[in-house]
Amino acid sequence: MPHLILAIDQGTTSSRAIAFEVGEDQSLRAVAISQIELAQHFPHSGWVEHDAVEIWTATLQTCREVIRKAGGVSRFAAIGITNQRETSVIWDAATGEPLHRAIVWQDRRTADVSSRLATEGHEAMVQAATGLILDPYFSATKFAWLLDKVPGARERAEKGEVKLGTIDAWLVWKLTNGQSHVTDATNASRTSLMDLRTREWRDDLCALFDVPKAALPRIVGCSEISGESDPSLFGRALPIAGSAGDQQAALVGHGALTPGDAKITYGTGAFLVANVGDQPVASTRRLLGTLGYQVGETAAPLVAYALEGSIFSAGSAIQWLRDGVGMISESRHSEAMAQGLKDNGGVYLVPGFTGLGAPWWEPDARGAVIGLTRDSKPAHFVRAGLEALAYQTRDLLDALADDGAPRLERLKVDGGVTANAFAMQFVADICEVTVERPAFQEMTALGAAKLAALGVGLIADLEVHTTEAPAVWTPRMEAAERERLLKGWRKAVKAAIIAAN
Ligand code: G3P
Repeated sequence: MPHLILAIDQGTTSSRAIAFEVGEDQSLRAVAISQIELAQHFPHSGWVEHDAVEIWTATLQTCREVIRKAGGVSRFAAIGITNQRETSVIWDAATGEPLHRAIVWQDRRTADVSSRLATEGHEAMVQAATGLILDPYFSATKFAWLLDKVPGARERAEKGEVKLGTIDAWLVWKLTNGQSHVTDATNASRTSLMDLRTREWRDDLCALFDVPKAALPRIVGCSEISGESDPSLFGRALPIAGSAGDQQAALVGHGALTPGDAKITYGTGAFLVANVGDQPVASTRRLLGTLGYQVGETAAPLVAYALEGSIFSAGSAIQWLRDGVGMISESRHSEAMAQGLKDNGGVYLVPGFTGLGAPWWEPDARGAVIGLTRDSKPAHFVRAGLEALAYQTRDLLDALADDGAPRLERLKVDGGVTANAFAMQFVADICEVTVERPAFQEMTALGAAKLAALGVGLIADLEVHTTEAPAVWTPRMEAAERERLLKGWRKAVKAAIIAAN
């Protein structure tokens, strides 16, 4: 009986495939991995593109390698997909060839469209329907841009000859050799075109953003069999049985299944996703309402909604300290450098390199370092960069609390920066919450694998079934010290916003 799951994790900087073995105790264990870096294209200031063909070939190559390493395709039961969200692809339905490079989630080229729609007074309606604010981050304005700029695409889209989709839809199309044009409901919840309650495309939103429904994929659940891989690809057809956007997949990977559970993934940016239960919560603090997951019977699915806060620069602040200004030679040195200081010396770094995300949403803000004295050293910059992770997390948790989300017992963390014990202790201290990092770090791929395993009945639920103990940090900072630091941070954010305006 095949009991391996092939998890595809197509991220912003790389494409990965991981084989998970499903144990009799319902636990999933990674047994093989393959990864290929992805080229980033910056054709103009504020524009970010990916080559969709490169994404597909890298996906295929990593999958084949992992299948080989794990002992052959006969051992696999299903495929699960997780992906960078919002990134938008347009392709020719007949040839399966992309008609333009993919527009990446970070791309700001459609900022004028979002601000025009906001000025025209559409934001309240869009937010009430989709949970999302008006921002070029989401797919709808990117889809419309592609339809407008690719000659003939708009007319052909109306006739179904041109297809649109996020990366999950693109990969399913290629894997099934054009048999399935589907997207899962979590990815669809990031387009600005899906009604968050009904989880269906809305005609009025398609009209507002000028995206024909005929070109959009069919929305499916996260553990639904949405197609089969073409047998020629891996030597045997495999059901595609799970799919979710990467932040939602990480929520599932962490087993954050109960209202009040939350996870934050610290990558280049950082994404906090908090489970709020089976009804969407409308944010008053400009957090995003989004779908956590939808599993089970189509007629009576099990649905979890979430509130999400996106930090645009997290690990990238450390990368900047390393590659931009050369203050550290390797990221891992940052921990000892920060710990070598008795305090932050009043220095704050606001990493607004590409604007500030939630809860500020200040696209024009830029990075700022304030509080420098003649005594300031590179270590102060490094410490300020690490501390900023915690302050930004605190801002999101405060916004969550203001929105009435249940109080967090534990904050589940993953991502590269969580290897830094100084930063994790500081997050616990500043956020006044116990921070928990699982022993196995690939939460995103694990989530996709769990959804697929559920989809083919290899597991019965999405609970965590592992005996490996997590690393835990508990708050130990005095309240007065925390308040003093937070006051300094808030002043620094204000300065960064004022300086940009
Ligand atoms: O919303 C964008 C997010 O899904 C990207 O995640 O991990 O590819 O940077 P990542």
